[in-house]
Amino acid sequence: MRRKIIAGNWKMNKTPSEAVQLINELKPLVVTDEADVVFCVPAISLIPAVEAAKGTNINIGAQNMYFEESGAYTGEIAPNMLTEVGVKYVIIGHSERREYFAETDETVNKKVLKAFEHGLTPIICCGESLAQREQGVTIDFVRQQIKVAFLGVTKEQAAKSVIAYEPIWAIGTGKVATTEQAEEVCKAIRDCIAEIYDNDTAEAIRIQYGGSVSASSAKELFSQPNIDGGLVGGASLKADFGKIVNYK
Ligand code: 13P
Repeated sequence: MRRKIIAGNWKMNKTPSEAVQLINELKPLVVTDEADVVFCVPAISLIPAVEAAKGTNINIGAQNMYFEESGAYTGEIAPNMLTEVGVKYVIIGHSERREYFAETDETVNKKVLKAFEHGLTPIICCGESLAQREQGVTIDFVRQQIKVAFLGVTKEQAAKSVIAYEPIWAIGTGKVATTEQAEEVCKAIRDCIAEIYDNDTAEAIRIQYGGSVSASSAKELFSQPNIDGGLVGGASLKADFGKIVNYK
């Protein structure tokens, strides 16, 4: 049985002091033995967030990192800067990064490889636009994203990865994919991993759904055979996140 993983993506919200306050508020609400819980906070809040989460079941994740070790890359953050302060996870290739910051499948692949080199668990994002869904190319498009993201990734690394399927049209819109739509694509992603590697790897990898997940939609979504939790935006900034983590 795969262990569920429920992550909050705070995006560009909360100052460092607000981040600590929110972690202190959510701490008692996100207690669970049944899932891994991750808070992906803005880079400037990573250090106080790790501190605030000490002694709890909350893991801290970053929302991005660069694929080089160090050097003249103004504004970027290197993987060893994350690991040194106790960060365990890193979101890679979120659709907002692809759309506003020109990330591509190729940069996603470089970042995934670099994250593994440093022992960080990547949460690799994929997902189609509304136009692609309407054109009927969702699965082809997501398979392409996955195939490129995993180039050069070993089977052992792949088994430890987390993939977040986030249809772009469902992000921040309040429009959740239907359970059938979400399960269909998450299953296609697992089949794609089985093709690239093998069945054992496909059975081990964890696949989240993201896009307007709420306290009311979490249970049905997370009960699907191929959905192993969620990547939650807006609702991760509220007490509702406790209900999402304890969705049963
Ligand atoms: P919302 O839950 O706000 O739709 O955001 C989803 C998301 O982009 C998580 O990464």
